[in-house]
Amino acid sequence: MTDTAVDTEVPAADQHPVGNPLSDGLRHGRVPLPSVLVIFGATGDLTKRKLVPALYALAADGLLPPGFSIVGAGRSEQSTETFREAMREAVAKYGRVPLREDLWSVFSDGMRYCEFDLDADDGLNDLAENLEELDRERGTSGNRIFYFSIPPSGFAPLAERLGREGLTREEDGGFRRMIIEKPFGRDLDSARELNGKLHLAFGEEQVYRIDHYLGKETVQNLLVFRFGNGIFEPLWNRQYIDHVQITVAENIGVEGRGGYYEESGALRDIIQNHVIQLMAIVGMEAPSKVHGETVRDEKVKLLRAVRPIHPDDALSHTVRGQYAAGWIDGERVPGYREETGVAENSLRETFVAMKVDIDNWRWAGTPFYLRTGKRLPKRATEIAIQFRRVPHSPFGGRVETPAGLLPKDSIDPNLLVLRIQPDEGITLRFSAKVPGQSMRIRTVNMDFLYGSAFLTESPEAYERLLLDCMLGDRTLFAREDEVEEAWRICTAILDGWRSQPPDREGTANYESGTWGPEAARDFMARDGRQWRRL
Ligand code: BG6
Repeated sequence: MTDTAVDTEVPAADQHPVGNPLSDGLRHGRVPLPSVLVIFGATGDLTKRKLVPALYALAADGLLPPGFSIVGAGRSEQSTETFREAMREAVAKYGRVPLREDLWSVFSDGMRYCEFDLDADDGLNDLAENLEELDRERGTSGNRIFYFSIPPSGFAPLAERLGREGLTREEDGGFRRMIIEKPFGRDLDSARELNGKLHLAFGEEQVYRIDHYLGKETVQNLLVFRFGNGIFEPLWNRQYIDHVQITVAENIGVEGRGGYYEESGALRDIIQNHVIQLMAIVGMEAPSKVHGETVRDEKVKLLRAVRPIHPDDALSHTVRGQYAAGWIDGERVPGYREETGVAENSLRETFVAMKVDIDNWRWAGTPFYLRTGKRLPKRATEIAIQFRRVPHSPFGGRVETPAGLLPKDSIDPNLLVLRIQPDEGITLRFSAKVPGQSMRIRTVNMDFLYGSAFLTESPEAYERLLLDCMLGDRTLFAREDEVEEAWRICTAILDGWRSQPPDREGTANYESGTWGPEAARDFMARDGRQWRRL
C-alpha cells in the first residue's frame, strides 16, 4: 500500500454524495476552557504513571488553556511542594515528552495538594476552598473535573458526598464532570446499581467513563478506515465476510495485581470493555456524524443485536483457561496460582475465547470470535476480517502454500488485518501469481505501517481522553447503556461458568508462552475455522 499521499483534510459534507460522518468530529486544535482537574487518589500509581504525564504532554503541545489547574487529593499528609516534586519526577520518568524546566515551572504553578480521606464522611471544606481560590486566582470559572482514581467501592460514596456538598451542580454556568474507570460494576445488576447511584449526584452527560482503548490512535482510526473510505463498505457484511477474529494477547502475567485479578478475571478485565468496544466499532452502522451521541447510539444498537448466550450454553460458546508456569522470551515464568495474592487452588480465568453471533441484516451468519489471554507468546491486539473464499477457482494446477503445493481449491481467502498494537498498521492479504511458466498461486500482503506513513509520534490514550473531557466531547467515553449491554453479554457467561465450575486441573490448562488451551483450537475447528497465528 502506498504510504506517501497523506491528506488530513476531509471534504465538506455537502460535497460528498453520502454525507461525511467524519467532518463534524474533526477538532482543529480547539483549546478547552480553563478548568480544575481534581484527582482523588492523587498519590496512587495511575496519577504518576499516566494522568500527570499525559497532562504535561498536552501542555507541551500547547493544548491546555492558560489557568488550567490540578488539585491532587489524597489521604497522605504532604505539602503542595512535595506533591509537585513527586509529579515532576513522575513526568521525567514516565512522560512521553521530555521534561523542560521552563514549561514545568508554568505547568506546576497551577498544582495544589489537598488532604482528603475517602473513608471519612465529613464535609469537603478544604477542597471547596482550594477550588474557590483557584477560580479567583487562575480564572477557572467554576469549571471542574473530578477524576475518581480510587478503588471502585468508593465510586458511589464519593459521588454522593460531592453531590451533598453541592460540588456537582452546574448552576453558576461552570461545568462539573466526573471521570471514572472500570470496573463499572461486576455484572449487569451491580453496573445498573452503580449507574443509578452516580446519577443521584451527576447527570449522565456529566459522567465520563474511560475505556483507554478508545483513546488509542489505532482504535480511532477504525472509524476513519470504515467511514472515511468508500471501497470497504460494500464488502463489510455477511455476504463477503466469513468471520471476524478479535485478539487481545498479552505476554505479561498479572503483574502484582493478583488480588484484583482474583476478583476480576479475563472476561471482566478485557472482554467486557476493551474487546467489546472493538467489536462494536467493527460491527456498527455508519453514524451520521462522529460526534456526541451518534457514535454511541450506533454502538449500542450493535450490542443490542448480539444474540444472548443462555447460561446453559456458556460452555459451548466459550473456552476459559488459566496459565500454568512456562517460558516467555527464554525466561521461566510462574503459573497464575503461584502469583502473589492468588489462591493456590484458584479457578479464575486468565484466558477467554468466545463466539458472538449478531442478529441483524449485516452480520447474521457471520460470527465474531473474541479471545484474550495473559502469558501468551507475545503482545498483540488485532482485528482480522476473513473474507469468504472465491466461489470457484478457474485455475488448474496447484497452489503454493507455506505447507507446500496444495490442490487449487486451497486458495487462501482474502484477509484484512487491522493491527491495533504493536506494529500498528493494516495488512491486506490476497493471491498473486508466482512468476514462472506455470500458474502457481501464492498469497502476498499489502502493508500500511503507521510508523512509516506518519512521521509523528502518536499521543497517549490518556492525553486524548483528558482533553476530550475538558472539551465536553463524550464520543470516546462509554455511555451508561453501552456498559450495561456489554454486561448483559458477559453476565450470562459468568452465570453459566459459576454453575459449571471447571475442575481444579481443568483450569490450569495452558502453559505460559503458548496460545492458550487446546480447547480453544478445538472450539474453532468445530466451526471449520482456525485462529490466526500471530
Ligand atoms: C487493562 C487491564 O485495562 O488493560 C490490564 O486491566 C491489561 O490487565 C491492560 O494489561 C492492557 O492494556 P494495553 O493498553 O497494554 O493493551
